[in-house]
Formats: sequence, structure tokens, C-alpha cells
Amino acid sequence: KVPNVTDIGLKPRAVKKVAVIGGGLMGSGITTALILSNIYVDKADKAISMLKGVLDYSEFRDVDMVIEAVIEKVPLKQKIFSEIEKACPPHCILATNTSTIDLNVVGEKTSSQDRIIGAHFFSPAHVMPLLEIVRTEKTSAQTIVDLMTVGKIIKKVPVVVGNCTGFAVNRTFFPYTQSAQLLVNLGVDVFRIDRLITSFGLPMGPFQLQDLAGYGVALAVGKEFADAFPDRTFRSPLVQLLVNNGRNGKNNGKGYYLYEKGSKPKPD
Ligand code: NAI
Repeated sequence: KVPNVTDIGLKPRAVKKVAVIGGGLMGSGITTALILSNIYVDKADKAISMLKGVLDYSEFRDVDMVIEAVIEKVPLKQKIFSEIEKACPPHCILATNTSTIDLNVVGEKTSSQDRIIGAHFFSPAHVMPLLEIVRTEKTSAQTIVDLMTVGKIIKKVPVVVGNCTGFAVNRTFFPYTQSAQLLVNLGVDVFRIDRLITSFGLPMGPFQLQDLAGYGVALAVGKEFADAFPDRTFRSPLVQLLVNNGRNGKNNGKGYYLYEKGSKPKPD
């Protein structure tokens, strides 16, 4: 059932078919979130039948919304948006799950900036409640209303935020992560910081979270902030050191922590 958004006089359009581009950590979580909102979870066959894997954007001719969730690289996202603009119908919402890239840059190579919007989910996307909806000055009110409605239908808490480095959550979160890395640089133990933060009440500390989110994202977000705020960004060597030592986080079973099937993450 699509609720009516009466406060700005716009009725949400039905979003019946969604294409998710990129099947990594976020793409698979977002897909799960979409499917779970429409099915009985115990009917696995039905869930599978709602999903179609495709390799060609020509299959997007009847989708109402695209959510792009590929790696955090500007030229790749720009190329994808210029291609899907041609492949999708003219009403289709063009959303990106980017963590930090300026949406005007993502949509720079399209002429559909009114349909470009941020649909920023948090990992794990089928569990975390917040959906940050990033609007630019060109995003149409209809696009915002439609995505707000989808957010509510999939039982998220949709919050509209402005288009700036890190948007609202990462803008707040990045200095916190940076402070933790500065402490490590001063000689404080990584696992002590994580234990302290979990005792404080957060579900996990900043280093375990980095292991979960993946270092590709951590490095990309760090670069965005360093470019935007060079005078107040600490360029921590930690993540790069881990990568150089074959540690990619939970993804490959070892990061700050060791991940073994069936047991809790172990400090390493
Ligand atoms: P990931 O590395 O797990 O997945 C990226 C996927 O993109 C891979 O499956 C890769 O095969 C695919 N890909 C690469 N080039 C492609 C192309 N040309 N066409 C289709 N697929 C392609 O990365 P992750 O973590 O899922 O991040 C994806 C996006 O979500 C990034 O923009 C990231 O900043 C954002 N994000 C990540 C969060 C996290 O906690 N990891 C949280 C919120 C947003």
C-alpha cells in the first residue's frame, strides 16, 4: 500500500520494479532489503523468483528505479549513469548508494539531474534502519517523495539530507573514526579502543566496523575527506598497511581481527 504524501501535494508514484547495479556487500544487502519487504521470509522459492540477474542494461527498459552500488570510483559511476539514462524509461529514478561522492559529479554526464538522488543504505543494508536520502538542488520533489515512500515501504527510516562531503552520517562519523586512528598513532591498542566503545554502548568499535565495511570504502572515504578538508584530515597509514599485508577485513577473513566460521572475531 502506497501512503499518500499530502504535505507537499505530491502523490508518490508506484515503484514496482527496481534494478540494483553491483552485487557486492551493499548491492546484495539492498536487494535483500527490497525482497524481504514483499515476501514471507520463510518462502525462499518466492524470494528467488522475485530476483533476476542480468548482465545488460537493455533489461532495464521497464524498471521504475535503479540503485547503483558499485565500487566507489567517480569515472565508473559517471559512465554507469550516462549509460542507464539511455537504457531506462524517462520516469525512472536514478539512485546511487555512494558513501561520499558529490551527487552532481555522479550525474555530471547525464541530462537527467532531476532524477539523480542518493539512496544511502548502511551495512548490513537489510538490517540497519536508516536510509539517508541525498538530494541536490536539482533533484525533483517527485523523485524525493518516491524514494521516501520506497524507504517507508521497505521499513527503513528515510531521512532527507543535503549533498555535501560525507552527507550527514559520514560527515559526523568520519571525525570519530579519525580520532580513533589518531589514538592508535599515539600508541593506544586498537582492541582496547573497540572494547571501550562497545562498553560505551555502540554495537561495535570503529576498527571492527572498518573490517565489516571493507577497506575499499574506508580508503575512498578517507580520500574524499582529505581532498575536501586537507587541513583537518589525518592520513592514517593503518588501513593501507593491512592491505599491503594481505588483510582486507572480514571479506577475506582477516583484518584487524581474525574471522573464523562459527566463532566470534578474534583480535589478531
Ligand atoms: P563491494 O566491493 O562489496 O561491491 C562492489 C561491487 O561492484 C562488486 O560486486 C563489483 O563486482 C561490482 N562492480 C564493479 N564494477 C562494476 C560495473 N562496472 N558494473 C557492475 N558492477 C560492478 O563494495 P560495497 O561495499 O558494496 O560498496 C558499494 C558502494 O556502496 C560504494 O559506492 C560504497 O561507497 C557504498 N557504501 C558502502 C558501505 C559499506 O559499508 N561497505 C556503506 C554505504 C555505502
